[in-house]
Amino acid sequence: MARILITSAIPYINGIKHLGNLVGSQLPADLYARYMRMRGNEVMFICATDEHGTPAELAAAKAGKPVAEYCAEMHGVQAEIARGFRLSFDHFGRSSSARNHRLTQHFARRLGEQGLIAEVVEKQMFSRADDRFLPDRYIEGTCPNCGYDRARGDQCENCTKQLDPTDLINPRSAVSGSTDLELRETKHLYLRQRVLKERLAEWIDSKTGWPVLTTSIAKKWLNDGEGLQDRGITRDLAWGVPAQFAGAPWQGMEGKVFYVWFDAPIEYIAGTAEWADAHGLDDAAWERWWRTDKGAHDVTYVQFMGKDNVPFHTLSFPATIIGSDEPWKLVDYIKSFNYLNYDGGQFSTSQGRGVFMDQALSILPADYWRWWLLSHAPENSDSEFTWENFQASVNKDLADVLGNFVSRVTKFCRSKFGELVPEGGQTGERAAALIAELETRVRAYEGHMEAMEVRKAAAELRAIWVAGNEYLQSAAPWTVFKEDPERAAAMTRLGLNLVRLYAVLSEPFIPDASARMLAAMGTDDRSWPGPIAEALSVLPAGHAFETPEVLFRKIADEEREDWQKRFAGVRT
Ligand code: 2FM
Ligand code: ZN
Repeated sequence: MARILITSAIPYINGIKHLGNLVGSQLPADLYARYMRMRGNEVMFICATDEHGTPAELAAAKAGKPVAEYCAEMHGVQAEIARGFRLSFDHFGRSSSARNHRLTQHFARRLGEQGLIAEVVEKQMFSRADDRFLPDRYIEGTCPNCGYDRARGDQCENCTKQLDPTDLINPRSAVSGSTDLELRETKHLYLRQRVLKERLAEWIDSKTGWPVLTTSIAKKWLNDGEGLQDRGITRDLAWGVPAQFAGAPWQGMEGKVFYVWFDAPIEYIAGTAEWADAHGLDDAAWERWWRTDKGAHDVTYVQFMGKDNVPFHTLSFPATIIGSDEPWKLVDYIKSFNYLNYDGGQFSTSQGRGVFMDQALSILPADYWRWWLLSHAPENSDSEFTWENFQASVNKDLADVLGNFVSRVTKFCRSKFGELVPEGGQTGERAAALIAELETRVRAYEGHMEAMEVRKAAAELRAIWVAGNEYLQSAAPWTVFKEDPERAAAMTRLGLNLVRLYAVLSEPFIPDASARMLAAMGTDDRSWPGPIAEALSVLPAGHAFETPEVLFRKIADEEREDWQKRFAGVRT
């Protein structure tokens, strides 16, 4: 039994995530966690909400709520939706937790003590009307390059030129529109990442088996242009982890907090501590996942995220860990994803374009979405959600192949032998060929799951379902029954055992259907298959089962058209 620590990038608190967010981190992480548990490993699967930063503050203000209250509420909403999608987190934490406050300050202090923090006085835009410093992207004005009048202080969206807020003509606050701005001096803490460059490069070079998408992004940031830069890790904000605290190796940081990207990944650790707290366990219980001096030396740590998150996880967070000079667990494997597009464009949270997680669940149960998203995961390139494709996959893979198989076997058995697994003689050559095929396919499926090759795993699973269907079709127990009921009975017994086997193999992808299949087969034997012939004799003759209701329903054309229209616009 191995010990596997799994984290999914933690979603921002402001707003409900869309399906593109889901398939880029939480869902494949869940697939992997479920698979690893099914294989008998000890798994710790952590996610959380990412609650700090200006967007959270502004969203709360817009909702007319104190930010703490807003975050608590939205955490509840996101947790509920995560349950709806059957995301099997061991803990869904909050980056605003007391645990994360303490740990974030701990890391900052350690980095300071190692000489890795610089205090830098710089000038930043202050809005008198808003009574706050404004992050670059919250300053708008006219682009000096192209004249676009809604350019942001970090970049012009129109001509893509990178900007400084001071470059803008007629700058104004994006929060209030006020032009009463001034440059004010303010002190910030910088993490001296450049000092750590060699150690980071060495660490990344040692990861020879990482996906190209992950290492190419890491290396680009490490070596391109001016290379790895020191990074400001504090902000002039009220909401966040205070940068001035008892025992801090610096002064004069009152009223400032750590930058959201500094404390967010630390929440992976803090979230595990929150898990221990929630279960009444002591520190040793979470430290054995995170401290290599306290048991985590034999943990394999895997992170899941979208490609935009890769620099923070290959450079910034490791810089925090390595720079602390304490024996914290570093990530062993980073599985990153490209983007999922929506019907000829992009999913967009700010524009409300696409299907959002709550909306998805309001039209179909989780398994339908899980199957489509995972079997179309944007692994090697961006992929696209279209309603036609969604309808076709659901109707073919889930309804025609898997659902139909389960329904045919159980109904046939009920009509000819009753709802008991029938006794019977030999199954014949076709069955032997099926078992041989499954032997190969199941082992291939395991390999893809282990390697986190999500699409390949889905394709293999589908082929495993298809093999059962084809067997049934060609063995045709309904025809054989007339001449040789004994043999038809044996075929049926094999078919019912296949239903149980499919339930086990499919659990990571479609956990609800899997549970229903097991319940129908009257068993909670979820043991992973060794030799397939053995796995197909788990349900003995005389074992009672029930014929399940339709496992997956088909999506009708009218329905699909209706959804297409409903989700064509933007969500307000
Ligand atoms: O991109 C995002 O949604 C970020 N909230 C991810 C943070 S991941 C981590 F560092 F915790
Ligand atoms: Zn421009």
